[in-house]
Order: sequence, then C-alpha cells, then structure tokens
Amino acid sequence: MKIETIEHPAAAGAAPSTAPAIPAAAAPSGSFSGLNAFVLGATGGIGSAITQALLDRGARVLGTGRTDSSILELRNRLPHSDRFDGFPCDLSRPADISTLRDAKAEFFDAIDILVISSGTMRSGSTMEADLDHFDEHFSVNVRGPYALIQAALPSLIARRGQLVMISSSAGLKGRPRIGQYSATQAALKALADSVRDEVNEHLVRVMTVFPGRTAGPKQESLYQENGQDYVPELLLQPEDLARMVVAALDLPRTAEVTELHIRPLVKSY
Ligand SMILES: NC(=O)c1ccc[n+]([C@@H]2O[C@H](COP(=O)([O-])OP(=O)(O)OC[C@H]3O[C@@H](n4cnc5c(N)ncnc54)[C@H](OP(=O)(O)O)[C@@H]3O)[C@@H](O)[C@H]2O)c1
Repeated sequence: MKIETIEHPAAAGAAPSTAPAIPAAAAPSGSFSGLNAFVLGATGGIGSAITQALLDRGARVLGTGRTDSSILELRNRLPHSDRFDGFPCDLSRPADISTLRDAKAEFFDAIDILVISSGTMRSGSTMEADLDHFDEHFSVNVRGPYALIQAALPSLIARRGQLVMISSSAGLKGRPRIGQYSATQAALKALADSVRDEVNEHLVRVMTVFPGRTAGPKQESLYQENGQDYVPELLLQPEDLARMVVAALDLPRTAEVTELHIRPLVKSY
C-alpha cells in the first residue's frame, strides 16, 4: 500500500501558509460522520460506552468481543446499531486475529480511529501466580493488540487517524496481587509512546488512558471475589471516560492529548 506522508509544519519550522491541508474528516466538527472506528473489546463495560459515544457522533464502528453471543448482546442494546458491525476475536488465538483481518480487510484499509479496550485480568500474588497466566495476560493484553495495531497502522497513517489505548492506573503503579496484569498495562503505555513517536509526523495522534476503577461487570465481579460491597456510584462511570475519549478525539490537529488520567472523584479505595 502506498502511504502518503505530509510534513508537520511545527516539526519543519515552516510558516503557517505552508501548513498541510488537514482533511475535513480530521478537523474538529463535533461530528464523526464518515469516520470508521475499530474498537477492540467493544463488548466490555468501557468498550461499549466508547462504542456508543462514537456511534452517537455518527461514526461507523467495527467492534470485537470474544464471542458471537457477547456481540449480539451488545448490538441489541446499542442505539444506531445500523452503523455497528461486530466480529468475534479471542486475542489469545493468533488464528482469530488473522481471520478477523481477512474477513474485514476492506475495513482495515479505512480505519480512522482504533481503540484498544480489550483485556483480561487475573489476580494472584507473585509467589503464587501461575506462569501460564503470565503468558495469557501478555498474549491477550499486549501481543494481540500489537498485531492489530500493526495491521491498522497503514490506514491510520494514510487517513491521519487516531489510536487510543485504554491502559490502567495499575500500569503506572503496580498493586499487590495484580503484578501480571499491571505489567501488561505498563507495556501498553510503553508501546503507545513508541508508536506516537513513529507516527506523529504523519499527524496521527496516540493517546493512552489510565482509568481508575470503573463501574461495570468487571469491577462487580472483582468486588464479589474480594467479598466487598460493590457500589458502582462510587466508581468512575464508563460514560464519563467515553466522553473524555471522544472529546480528545475531536480536538483540532494542533493539539494531542498524550495521556489521560481519570479517577473516581470519591476515593473509596
Ligand atoms: N473496569 C475498570 O475498572 C478498569 C480500570 C482501568 C483499566 N481497565 C482496562 O480497560 C479495559 C476495558 O475494561 P472493562 O472494564 O471494559 O473490562 P470488561 O468489561 O471485562 O471487558 C473486557 C473486554 O475485553 C474482551 N476480552 C476479554 N478477554 C479477551 C480475549 N481473550 N480476547 C479478546 N477479547 C477479550 C471482552 O470480551 P467479552 O465481552 O466477549 O468477554 C470485553 O470486550 C481493560 O483492558 C481493563 O483492564 C479497566
């Protein structure tokens, strides 16, 4: 694929009159109509809120979950589901990734926004945790997304697209019993930093999001596992996070949010 490159005026020290023409689709308009977004983990608590926010703005969304049933369940509760297409992909299975790329080749040639919101998490102290779970964490949380970022990059570069990686506050500071998970979230940050430095010159933006605990099925099961009361109102709401992501995506191309740290206002944990 031929990739068109443009020189960023700031990097080149050029006068404003030589600024590259930013395509209409990349200008802040409040509308994402005509844009194609690929959301990995669209069926999750955070991914589904981001998917919905993108659809609300007029984007077309291809979203993944692990299974047909989780995708069907999502589709049934989405408004604007006519602009949503889902495809199952278990990121621990390289064959699933190839199948997705082949089945959606046309979409992969036209991605404007890639959101990584998939992920798995198992807890266990460093003394006790299973090494196989370490491999599982890395294949699902890092290797799989990496493979799909690789596949999407030519399109993101050609279309001055945007990449959003949902990491975690646990990627900035590990906590007891989630060392394997924390390591993958730190890896996502490092990966995002590398990609950003590779693609900023093409006017591609890369943002890493570090949410604190966010209400949803994932947190509900973790609170249950730990025998604690689950009070979703005390946690960050996925819609709050989605609103910030969409606002960052809609910024003019003179700005880039590189990192977004977002926490529940009430510090209940
Ligand atoms: N919730 C929080 O408090 C919180 C805080 C900070 C960071 N995060 C991070 O944000 C991301 C989204 O969190 P969430 O709360 O939305 O989690 P979630 O509700 O558990 O959703 C996880 C998503 O990843 C998918 N997934 C899980 N295992 C997979 C696999 N092996 N292959 C492919 N996809 C897989 C799930 O698909 P299915 O629906 O089909 O299972 C779902 O779409 C995760 O990376 C999480 O670590 C979450």
